[in-house]
Amino acid sequence: MYAPFAVGTIVPLMGSGSMLILEGDQHRRERRLVMPMFHGDRMKAYGASIQQCALEQIETHSARRSVVTLDLMTEISLEVIVRTVFGGSDRELVTNLMNASRRVVASSSPLLFFSSKTHVAFFGFSPWDRWTKAKKELFQLLDEVIQDRQQGGSVNDDILSMLCASTYEDGQSITREHIYSELMTFLFAGHETTALSLTWAVYHLHKNMDSLVRLRQEPDSLGDDSPASLASAPYLKATIQETMRIHPIVTETLRKLKSPLRLADYMLPAGVAVAPATVLAHYNPSTYSEPELFRPERFIEHSYSAFEYMPFGGGHRRCIGAAFASYEMAIVLGTILKRYQLELIDSNLVFPKRRNITMGPSSGVPIRVNQR
Ligand code: HEM
Repeated sequence: MYAPFAVGTIVPLMGSGSMLILEGDQHRRERRLVMPMFHGDRMKAYGASIQQCALEQIETHSARRSVVTLDLMTEISLEVIVRTVFGGSDRELVTNLMNASRRVVASSSPLLFFSSKTHVAFFGFSPWDRWTKAKKELFQLLDEVIQDRQQGGSVNDDILSMLCASTYEDGQSITREHIYSELMTFLFAGHETTALSLTWAVYHLHKNMDSLVRLRQEPDSLGDDSPASLASAPYLKATIQETMRIHPIVTETLRKLKSPLRLADYMLPAGVAVAPATVLAHYNPSTYSEPELFRPERFIEHSYSAFEYMPFGGGHRRCIGAAFASYEMAIVLGTILKRYQLELIDSNLVFPKRRNITMGPSSGVPIRVNQR
């Protein structure tokens, strides 16, 4: 009944194997292959890497007089993708993969995503030229990792290693082009979204000190901040849920109707785009009392249905990285708050602002960072 909406432009960018583009049986087949790699039980394998990324990055950033939270969180979430998805193991490879990924992200001009007319070469100077050059450099590095895995080099838990070893239900292996498509999708779908949510969480916790105090007491009362403890800390989980309720990062999960749909009194023809109103659902006063307030407790007192709470979309295209992102956010936020004291530098209100496909904070949320 529903197909992805207007994804034609992103085929040349992500490759035709990206889950964002596939439809019907091909989409189902792809999800069946990839889902187990993001399943809740798999998370334990990524916990230590995620925590190490958070600690190394905050240590580097804390040497500065002020830190832009969004920059810090973007570096952490990028390194998490490089280590747990791309499988960068030694320091040099991680640095090279991070630099190459940064260049890919920086060269992804919104123009390229909105019109395929911009996909033209011009003596190395066009946005398309910059994008293809950056992508080629990243793929060359990923080739090294793939070769290492295929020659039985290091045995790793990363998603790239699992993709290399996996076969579809019909026994067919995944091609290298297809692996690239999925890795690009994870890079774009997974790192900015997570960084923006973490930035909002830091902002709201420091505007609502009661919540911060309660959260601080929780990891302390658990006695340790191991990834497993943080991932199961109820108030930390509720804080992240409440952050994504107040500020869903993707506000339109668009679908194209494959056949006509009756919606209340309206008959919508096939081909029309529809989307659930995520923000309206998240601010519905009959579901959430005082919806404008940041109050993580509501997620402890009550559990909300998939129609009331949808920061990761819904249905058969629901975010495949939802468990991964929730786990990552709990570890990053819990680890940083346990060991560091953060202070908002700017007292001005921060409000949601459209970036491109995502919505993010209107400022990067500058903070001061001190050891606790
Ligand atoms: C806070 C972080 C994140 C948010 C808010 C988020 C949100 C979303 C949303 C709203 C969708 C669209 C769902 C729909 O159309 O119904 C989506 C899809 C997707 N996300 Fe995420 N995401 C996050 C993190 C991640 C991560 C970490 C990954 C992977 C590493 C990831 C991979 C994907 C993929 C592959 C899809 C496409 C699924 C499909 O079309 O079948 N996301 N995400």
